[in-house]
Amino acid sequence: MDETLVLEEYSEEKHDLIVDLLTNVFDGWPKIDIDVSSVDYWKWKYLKNPLEKRNICYYIDDRIVACSHRIPKKCIIRDLEFYANQGADAAVDPAYRGRGLWNNLRDLHDLIDQRNGINFSYFITGNQIIIDKFNKSPQYQRIPHKLIPLVRIIDVDKHLKIMPMDNPEIVKIGYRMISAIQKTIYPSKKKTIETEYVKLQDINLNPFWEKIKTQYDFIFEKTQHYLEWRYSSEIANYDFVISKKEDEITGILVLLINRYRNDYPIGYILECLTAPDDTESMTSLLHEANKYFDKENVNIIQLLSINQKMVKCARENGYVVAPIDIHAYIQQKESTDSVNIEKLTTLYFSWGDHDSLPIGLKN
Ligand SMILES: CC(C)(COP(=O)(O)OP(=O)(O)OC[C@H]1O[C@@H](n2cnc3c(N)ncnc32)[C@H](O)[C@@H]1OP(=O)(O)O)[C@@H](O)C(=O)NCCC(=O)NCCS
Repeated sequence: MDETLVLEEYSEEKHDLIVDLLTNVFDGWPKIDIDVSSVDYWKWKYLKNPLEKRNICYYIDDRIVACSHRIPKKCIIRDLEFYANQGADAAVDPAYRGRGLWNNLRDLHDLIDQRNGINFSYFITGNQIIIDKFNKSPQYQRIPHKLIPLVRIIDVDKHLKIMPMDNPEIVKIGYRMISAIQKTIYPSKKKTIETEYVKLQDINLNPFWEKIKTQYDFIFEKTQHYLEWRYSSEIANYDFVISKKEDEITGILVLLINRYRNDYPIGYILECLTAPDDTESMTSLLHEANKYFDKENVNIIQLLSINQKMVKCARENGYVVAPIDIHAYIQQKESTDSVNIEKLTTLYFSWGDHDSLPIGLKN
């Protein structure tokens, strides 16, 4: 290892240099049309987390040449609350790759996790080097439940013109065929539950969260406090819809239009959270999401789910499963009372649980 390279845990004042590296490595960062600078976004994401734990590491030479982050979170697994974290924004300057920097950053992350009492980490990646490394390392376990990306596209030709893919004719025919078949197998259902646009600060989601959290056997925390940070109005223009039955909240929808590419806005359903079996609320919220994005002329909507009931509701609302294999892994440290992820059946995952958003339809 080069003598001049120093591995460090985050100290104040280094954020500009970290953001410079992320911007160079990812050709722009964070690729969301945020209302703040990239540096303020980084500070929100990594320093203002409501759990007040940090795990940020980097290598410094004459500048920062490698960095990696973990976002602390709480997750509920079978009624038990765990501190967890999510791996995020790992980047190594191309000139320094293949020299073990990322491996060493992960070792330091693990030491910091030990100090913070965090025994459980979670990663989503599309990077083949990371996928290969995790697949061969026994401490990482691929989540055996499939994360299902769904899309609803109004005009496939327009999409392929703006975001070209290999074999566009096949993609086009495939999408149209699946949509047509789905319309017969999954006819659309009527909206039966009342929905209402709200401001997060005007409602209290905690009673709803307390009611549903134990109905899932794996879910990341979604308290009012967490959601107010995750969907802070200072960062981006999120919109919130709740579903209600007899004045009681039965679900929440979080919507975002990403105008990072101003010629092609992309719609995201960041959360569609209801009780796991409450298909009436799911359907009604998805109806509202479609109406919202259609009004804004958004051609593509992206949704992520792991719950088959939600997938069925999405299909009834015109969504198609995208042919993308999402690689999600967990890492459990030795001292954890082992959580047997294979035995968990009712899980919740959303794009809001991921730290970045897909732009196109490729892996
Ligand atoms: C992925 C990335 C962080 C790896 O960083 P790195 O410092 O080069 O990785 P390391 O040198 O520590 O190598 C880690 C492992 O990957 C393997 N590896 C590294 N580069 C490789 C390559 N180009 N091809 C195949 N294997 C490779 C190494 O052999 C090593 O395996 P081992 O520990 O079993 O020997 C870096 O390539 C990167 O910044 N990529 C672009 C940004 C990105 O996509 N980040 C991930 C977002 S999810």
